[in-house]
Amino acid sequence: MGPGGFYRPSYKNGAKISLWMMSLGKNWDPTTRSYGPTRPIDGARAPAIPEAFKMIAQTANSTANGFPQINPDICIVNYYTNSGKLGLHQDKDESESSLTKGLPFISISIGDTAEFMFGDTRDKDQATKIDLESGDVLILGGESRLLFHGISHVKTNTTPTWLKEATGLRPGRINLTFRQH
Ligand code: SIN
Ligand code: MN
Repeated sequence: MGPGGFYRPSYKNGAKISLWMMSLGKNWDPTTRSYGPTRPIDGARAPAIPEAFKMIAQTANSTANGFPQINPDICIVNYYTNSGKLGLHQDKDESESSLTKGLPFISISIGDTAEFMFGDTRDKDQATKIDLESGDVLILGGESRLLFHGISHVKTNTTPTWLKEATGLRPGRINLTFRQH
């Protein structure tokens, strides 16, 4: 809600991205596809990643076999309303050394279920589709680090009732991705 909070980012061509975004640790700017301490739209500094968030990501990282351990210095938080979506893309704006080592990014989903697509190309029809439900953790690392991935749609009213009651979470889906620059 404060400085550095959710905003509607745009791509380089000016088109609005169909989600709300905020960055913790370092700001990711979708227009220049680069990281920095502050964001161009309003000059706000990226808030620190809460230690409790980092611990959840690192625990997931060490529980999954075969991935190097990261010390996350970036967490991009996306909020999708029920019409939110995200086209197939690769995450490759982290440092060359991070990408060469196949350091994973760790994704945590909260709220409504989304259909997640992934594949070797940008072709939506060839992509594999799986549901990411509230509480699911997805790790892309090693050979899978540069997979194309995206969100085709959010499934309305699928947030677990207990979560809605305990938090007052509004309709939609939150996704956090932890990365090491
Ligand atoms: C992302 O591609 O960076 C986010 C994917 C998601 O929302 O699950
Ligand atoms: Mn991505």
